[in-house]
Amino acid sequence: MGTLSGNKIAGGNPSRGRVDNDYYATNNYSTKAILEVEDIIYPALEPACGEGHISKLLVGEVYSTDLIYRKYGCGDMDFLSYEYIEKLGYMVYKNSKTQKDYRENTNETLGFIKQKKVYENKYINTVITNPPFNLFQEFVEKALMLANKKVIMFGKLQALEGIKRATFLETTPLKTVYVFKKRQQPLRNGSEIDPLTNKKWASSTMAFAWFIWEIGYTGEPVIKWI
Ligand SMILES: C[S@@+](CC[C@H](N)C(=O)[O-])C[C@H]1O[C@@H](n2cnc3c(N)ncnc32)[C@H](O)[C@@H]1O
Repeated sequence: MGTLSGNKIAGGNPSRGRVDNDYYATNNYSTKAILEVEDIIYPALEPACGEGHISKLLVGEVYSTDLIYRKYGCGDMDFLSYEYIEKLGYMVYKNSKTQKDYRENTNETLGFIKQKKVYENKYINTVITNPPFNLFQEFVEKALMLANKKVIMFGKLQALEGIKRATFLETTPLKTVYVFKKRQQPLRNGSEIDPLTNKKWASSTMAFAWFIWEIGYTGEPVIKWI
């Protein structure tokens, strides 16, 4: 009798492997569920926007960036790099929302002033995203440095676990963890359909949640179900 890998035991399909840059888009259902219970305080930033699945459901001043350009927002922007703040400063200064706008405006030296404003005066009120899972903590750390009011992250419920992550989370103003009553289905490679079966994706083996940090919150985190 053959042995089963951990992934197979958990119900995964190891033949697919991971997607490049962990591109699992957020289902509209998952985003709408959080927007019903949490206010977005604008201006907002989606720093790993993919094709804009989250950004497109937001209704105020939103800046959308990603390491990879997927024909939405601005690409070539590594959220974890030092230069990110400068690039975001250019975007904010010129109100650039697309790659084209952004390319046309990056020569503005005045962008530097805005860069300082973005960072020191905390221009961005809410950072919201679904980060690559293996960079969850790094994204939370950077988002907490940038956001003036709130950080909202979609992630595996499992993000609460692990000595390094849990110890870090204890030091953050994590206010609410919204656990889904119904299993959520992220869209692998942004696709609604599983190309292997030509049908909607089979139920995910992972449990997901929305994590909310409120800057200045000093109480214990609370679990809610949505
Ligand atoms: C799980 S997907 C989510 C996409 C989108 N936020 C959504 O909810 O549909 C993670 C995204 O993070 C992007 N990404 C990976 N590393 C990044 C980095 N260092 N800086 C910015 N974006 C990154 C990937 O290109 C991918 O689009």
